[in-house]
Amino acid sequence: MANNYPIGLFDSGIGGISIYNEIKKTLPNESTIYLADNLNAPYGKKTNEEIIHLSLKNTQKLIDLNCKLIVVACNTATTNAITILRENFDTPIIGIEPSIKPAILNTKTKNIGILATEKTLSSNLFQQTSNKFSDGINIHEQIGYDLVSIIEKSGVNEELLIGKLKDYIEPMLEKNIDNLVLGCTHYYFLMDILKKILPSGVRVLDSSSAVSKRVKQVLEVDNIMSRTKDCKNEFYCNGNESVIKKFLGQGERINKIIF
Ligand code: DGL
Repeated sequence: MANNYPIGLFDSGIGGISIYNEIKKTLPNESTIYLADNLNAPYGKKTNEEIIHLSLKNTQKLIDLNCKLIVVACNTATTNAITILRENFDTPIIGIEPSIKPAILNTKTKNIGILATEKTLSSNLFQQTSNKFSDGINIHEQIGYDLVSIIEKSGVNEELLIGKLKDYIEPMLEKNIDNLVLGCTHYYFLMDILKKILPSGVRVLDSSSAVSKRVKQVLEVDNIMSRTKDCKNEFYCNGNESVIKKFLGQGERINKIIF
């Protein structure tokens, strides 16, 4: 695989743009292709089989577009499908999982909270990771019902989101959490609203910088780091483009395609 081929990323919609932004900060010379499968969002309520099917489809599309490495920029797809993706493709695949371990290492109150989709929280991978590190720590799980659907439809609309977020976060605060793990890439964009709800002592953790470090490491080890500064960033969706546009940087364009 040629070094200047792109890194491919996919998510059910705009969430993975938080991972894309972090990767571009760490690796500005890498070309990227971002797929937002927003026709099929949200993934969080789908069956395990449906998530696997969609993840295989997205990965195949990125490989057809000559991607040298795939980032599953979605916790739901990672926790439900990454093993099968790795069995089906030879291309290196990096996923994102909730930052449970750093939260457990950091907690003083021995109570941490995690906000994620239904299918991430119910996945074997998530349950195994939590059980492995959680000795003596209470992990308070909360499904972020409707959050992804609202963000995909209306962007980060505080009026629509703040009430739901309060309903999800306040019971965790009553349990004395001091670390809140964001287990869905869409929730990264809720940081400003979360700051209004959370007391200053509660640390919010997401996994985007861990993923970008891992991408860099794999590119180095596999010797496929870009050798040109002439990079290109492409964005594709298969549903409505209007909300995604708001999350892209200046000069970045989204194209609608069938995949
Ligand atoms: N960004 C996806 C995640 O990290 C959202 C899942 C969904 O579409 O429900 O889990």
